[in-house]
Amino acid sequence: MTRLSALAVLSTALLSSPAAAVTFTVPSRSGTGGLTYAPVAPAPVGISFEFFAFPSYFTNVTATKQCLSNWRDLTGTWPPIRIGGTTQDRASFDPNTSAYVVYRVANPADAPMELTFGPRFMTLAGSYEGSVVVGLNRGKNNIDNTIAAARSAVAEVKNLLAIELGNEPEYYPKDGQPLGRGIWNAATDAASQLDWAVRVGRAVGRTNLIQAGNRLQSPPGWGAAQIAQQEDANSRQYVRHYAHHNYPGGNVQQLQQHSRIVSNVRNMFAVDSQTVRRVTGKEYVIGETNSVSGGGAANVSPTYGAALWTMDYILSLTSLNISRVYFHHGTVGNCQYCFWGRYSMGAPYWGATAAVATLAGARTVAALDNGSGMHAAYATFDVEGHPLRVLLYNSNYYTGGMRTSERFTLTGLGSLSGTTVRAKRLTANSSGSRADRGADITFGGQYWTNGTCVLGGTERFETARVENGQVSFDVRAAEALLVYLQ
Ligand SMILES: *[C@@H]1O[C@H](CO)[C@@H](O)[C@H](O)[C@H]1NC(C)=O
Ligand SMILES: *[C@@H]1O[C@H](CO)[C@@H](O)[C@H](O)[C@H]1NC(C)=O
Ligand SMILES: *[C@@H]1O[C@H](CO)[C@@H](O)[C@H](O)[C@H]1NC(C)=O
Ligand SMILES: *[C@@H]1O[C@H](CO)[C@@H](O)[C@H](O)[C@H]1NC(C)=O
Ligand SMILES: *[C@@H]1O[C@H](CO)[C@@H](O)[C@H](O)[C@H]1NC(C)=O
Ligand SMILES: *[C@@H]1O[C@H](CO)[C@@H](O)[C@H](O)[C@H]1NC(C)=O
Repeated sequence: MTRLSALAVLSTALLSSPAAAVTFTVPSRSGTGGLTYAPVAPAPVGISFEFFAFPSYFTNVTATKQCLSNWRDLTGTWPPIRIGGTTQDRASFDPNTSAYVVYRVANPADAPMELTFGPRFMTLAGSYEGSVVVGLNRGKNNIDNTIAAARSAVAEVKNLLAIELGNEPEYYPKDGQPLGRGIWNAATDAASQLDWAVRVGRAVGRTNLIQAGNRLQSPPGWGAAQIAQQEDANSRQYVRHYAHHNYPGGNVQQLQQHSRIVSNVRNMFAVDSQTVRRVTGKEYVIGETNSVSGGGAANVSPTYGAALWTMDYILSLTSLNISRVYFHHGTVGNCQYCFWGRYSMGAPYWGATAAVATLAGARTVAALDNGSGMHAAYATFDVEGHPLRVLLYNSNYYTGGMRTSERFTLTGLGSLSGTTVRAKRLTANSSGSRADRGADITFGGQYWTNGTCVLGGTERFETARVENGQVSFDVRAAEALLVYLQ
């Protein structure tokens, strides 16, 4: 040990309180140990692009392609994308324009109130190698225009997974949308969604096409189950799956707190997703989400604490059998919660990538903790049911002073006794650290470069020896550790 690193160890020891202890048993096989297991999709973490901004992200933001391909490198599958949001209900299809999208804004930080888009918009979406969900207009109540757009999507988007018909329709009356005039509630919206699903599906000659729901207000009132229960056999065949939106909000300390994350996820989605699955047998996805609604909160969404939320939220959702989750990206240059922009990276990308790395190649996932404490553990399992990785998370808030630490002990690792396991640490100096303000945030010693999203730094693994089926790691407040069991 050099004098410098001896000093570093000493100062870390002085700044850390004695380790508390928490123990989790890792089941030797998926399906055992009395835990609840959920299947993991090949690429469960996706990105949602605000409709009008999608062409900018794909043609004029260098980091986009690289940030997406970094996850493809981990999982072997391009992450799924969704194109939609508030501006999908302000957009009209213009078959004659050669532009991707046409709009005027007073300030580049604004989203347009009206826009048109042409076939090239769909050609651009079709150039993406991963699956694509395209959100089209229902609010304007111009179904002929939406059918023309849907025909273009079906023709151009080779990896088209689904089409949405309207975004957060509960707000149509408030937004002055023509469809929301008169009586507008969850039941009339569901009737409208299903009527449009049948008419659009028939017009393009496809069943199993529509992503239904896309509502923000809480289930059961505005849930996806409410729609599933209103379907008949004819309308149901046009629905591919169901989506709901979610923005939990709160300050950084609340946002990163494990028990709050779990209760948000369970309260919003446990019953709604289980009902949908029981009634229809179809997938349930989080179609649009991020930390705080309205583009994010300036002092919350760009922080390392929000990155920790992103990580834990993804694992919490996937453990609940939510198939995919799409993190929203709004106006380029005016987006507090974005994972990347034109010039800089956003801290949440670190947390999302830690979650992608946890789930990569996994067939099943299970939460090892009961969701009521500050400490979380998730285990993933491979195709043969063997434990693959465990993600440990100490969700205590930290912004300075003495940094508490927790000793996590994993048991049940008898088959690994006598071997050494590796781990990657997600860390930063403070829950308030911001990559877009020069703070040092690392995952396994590495970071992503401003403007390009190219991985930088040297990959660093910690190691620990498994003795008598047990291994221990210290995880400080506001840190996570990904333990590789293979
Ligand atoms: C690309 O971004 C730059 C910088 O904001 C802007 O000036 C330019 O108009 C954008 N080009 C397109 C095609 O969006
Ligand atoms: C597109 O152009 C054709 C031929 O010029 C014209 O007939 C049609 O009305 C135009 N459609 C729209 C939506 O502008
Ligand atoms: C998870 O959902 C899928 C459908 O998306 C279903 O086939 C599967 O049985 C569900 N599993 C659990 C554990 O609920
Ligand atoms: C959850 O786990 C913690 C830590 O093991 C325990 O103290 C608590 O009683 C458990 N809560 C429930 C509801 O089981
Ligand atoms: C990334 O960009 C932000 C915003 O300009 C800056 O504060 C930060 O220092 C940059 N990070 C690196 C590693 O250059
Ligand atoms: C993080 O903390 C370390 C140790 O106290 C310090 O050397 C470093 O400058 C800090 N980094 C930032 C970006 O604040």
